[in-house]
Amino acid sequence: MLPLGAPGYGPPMSGPKSENLTWHIGEVDRATRTAAHGHGGATLWFTGLSGSGKSTIAHRVERALIERGAFAYVLDGDNVRHGLNQDLGFAAEDRVENIRRIGEVSRLFTDAGAIVVTAFISPYRADRDRVRELMPDGQFIEVFVDTPIEICESRDPKGLYKKVRSGDIKNFTGIDAPYEAPETPEVHLQTDKLSIDEAAEKVVDYLAKQGIIEAT
Ligand code: ADX
Repeated sequence: MLPLGAPGYGPPMSGPKSENLTWHIGEVDRATRTAAHGHGGATLWFTGLSGSGKSTIAHRVERALIERGAFAYVLDGDNVRHGLNQDLGFAAEDRVENIRRIGEVSRLFTDAGAIVVTAFISPYRADRDRVRELMPDGQFIEVFVDTPIEICESRDPKGLYKKVRSGDIKNFTGIDAPYEAPETPEVHLQTDKLSIDEAAEKVVDYLAKQGIIEAT
């Protein structure tokens, strides 16, 4: 039987709607989960413009981690908007709620001991900071996928910038909706200077330097 230990995360800062709830403290602590997985939990929070390369690099990181035997999982903006967040659009309040929900999901996965790799534009600094606050220090790792908008537009992998220019999409991040770049990200990827593999390696190296995974 697993030893009884200190709880994982406690209840979140903001209270729930109902008063009649009691937080149940589990029997498995973080150290036990870390020992079970062979690494600690963390959230690699990728942020950047549409077409910046977030999803591509995030999936390469996930693959690299799984090849090392880690428990890693990508939460991707377009995919999550097909299910959990299918009721949300791109108005400012919907983007806030999008990131709030993903932040909570990331917190749960991270508490479970996974290395979560999220790929959402997450344009607002305050929203990203709120997710950071949900996790113990060191477990939220902001990864800025820094790609000039001209390059995103020239790549246009989903043909969306073309639709923006022809007036078919409004409220598009970086064009007529804001993007607040991180000021002090833990990892800064300038994708016009790095290949996909180099960018992914930089992220994996950061995890190793922080002792979240073992260095090879
Ligand atoms: S976020 O702003 O709420 O964080 P999210 O990452 O979930 O955005 O979704 C962004 C993806 O939705 C883009 O990569 C793009 O494929 C698509 N998309 C559709 N409409 C918009 C829009 N108005 N602004 C940004 N992305 C959009």
